[in-house]
Amino acid sequence: METRSQWGTRAGFILAAVGSAVGLGNIWRFPAEAYANGGGAFFIPYLFALLTAGIPILILEFTMGHKYRGSAPLTYKKINKGSEFIGWWQVLVAFVISTYYATIIAWAMSYSVFSFNLNWGADTESFFYGHINIAEAEGQVGSFVPGVLIPLIIVWFIVLGVLFKGVKKGIEIANRIFIPTLVVVFLIIVIRAVTLPGAAQGLEAFFAPDFSSILSADVWVAAYGQIFFSLSIAFAIMVTYSSYLPKKTDITNNAFIVGFGNSSFELLAGIGVFGVLGFMAAQADVAVSDVVTGGVGLAFVVFPEIINTLPGLNGLFGFLFFASLVLAGLSSLISISETYISGLVDKFKISRTKAVVFGGGLAAIISLLYATQGGLYFLDAADYFINQFGVALLGLIEVILIAWVFRKLKELKTHADDISDIRLGSWWTFSLSVITPIVLGYMMFDLFRQNLLRQFDTPTGNYEGYADAFILYGGWFVALGALVIGIVMALTKWKESPDSTEQSETKEVK
Ligand code: ALA
Repeated sequence: METRSQWGTRAGFILAAVGSAVGLGNIWRFPAEAYANGGGAFFIPYLFALLTAGIPILILEFTMGHKYRGSAPLTYKKINKGSEFIGWWQVLVAFVISTYYATIIAWAMSYSVFSFNLNWGADTESFFYGHINIAEAEGQVGSFVPGVLIPLIIVWFIVLGVLFKGVKKGIEIANRIFIPTLVVVFLIIVIRAVTLPGAAQGLEAFFAPDFSSILSADVWVAAYGQIFFSLSIAFAIMVTYSSYLPKKTDITNNAFIVGFGNSSFELLAGIGVFGVLGFMAAQADVAVSDVVTGGVGLAFVVFPEIINTLPGLNGLFGFLFFASLVLAGLSSLISISETYISGLVDKFKISRTKAVVFGGGLAAIISLLYATQGGLYFLDAADYFINQFGVALLGLIEVILIAWVFRKLKELKTHADDISDIRLGSWWTFSLSVITPIVLGYMMFDLFRQNLLRQFDTPTGNYEGYADAFILYGGWFVALGALVIGIVMALTKWKESPDSTEQSETKEVK
């Protein structure tokens, strides 16, 4: 009997998948990553990673989810019993991401309220660190910060509320509201941004390539990491979402729409952000490079500063910007959390409500750590390590396993071609079996080498110069923990035989 949840419409699935892809990664992470990794030169590795890894893996994951009709652990188990732990590892990586991702949305929520009165004042940096009441050094926890704790609880309340409602009535409806609103709000912001005086200089800085950086392995890993994070691939999400597709659907076309939709949004975000940075530099009469900073600083320090100096409607612009971060973030967080809800339902045959209470509840409780005074340090270390040694590494393991160990590409290609308008060319097989393993494999090797060397090489120092002990438990243990708990989950017994729901074996409903 067919009992798995299903999307109501094709548009519903596409909106949900776009909602998952378009997130903090596009607005908060991409512009800073691009700039830090050589500006325009970043586009070469970025486009390369998109076309040879991002879109091919997206098609692969849509096909896997559709064919095997399971959460990531169930899908991997059906492919090969021994690989179930890869599915859980991916789910655990998503779990870690969901805990800190929620915190960034919580900050954005507070800031959308602060926008109305420009509460941050002239010194936006002191305001931000005061707002999160930051501890003096990494590793200190300190007390809860109510200004972060309260919005964080609201974020979880919304996300878990949507997840309680299920795939069609919860996730699909939420995305039908969030995504069109986000597109409209974001277009207003970008149009405003590029029409500001000085915007052209900002765009020039964004697009001007620094070709020397293209030879660095770091830049390539950053590009792959950005593509994986941004497309929500290699950490269980797209497999889960496509497991709710009806039998009759179009895989390849959907994947192209989602992939290019996401990258267009990302590019738009880069243009918008650099437009306003150009404006800011022009106001202060300095070079654009002097006003650019990464991640947290960009959204919560530099942006408020720019909002202060806008010629008019400052509060409204600020509100729209932070509201767009909240909307994009929520629709992604819903998808990130759905990975473990789905995994728990499949493995333990518990109701969705129970899975939301246990899985979502645990994530919400752990995320409280980031609402303490030491939260930002923990967030920064977890984000760096779980992305490099979680998402990017899992992307590599996934393609090697599917292409070379289980030799499933041909079968999956036939499955996708049978139901899609566009037939997959040999570029798909070649990208997944040759290009991505070689390029990403070499890059990951280099990344491991560098990070391990850093542990023993004091002059180079740790990531962000953090203390060794903190790097160990705040970074390595978190990344390794996802793998170890993944293995433990895979060793736990299934409540029911998991092999009864493969797409080709199920009777078509309706
Ligand atoms: N794909 C999501 C993002 O870009 C996770 O933020």
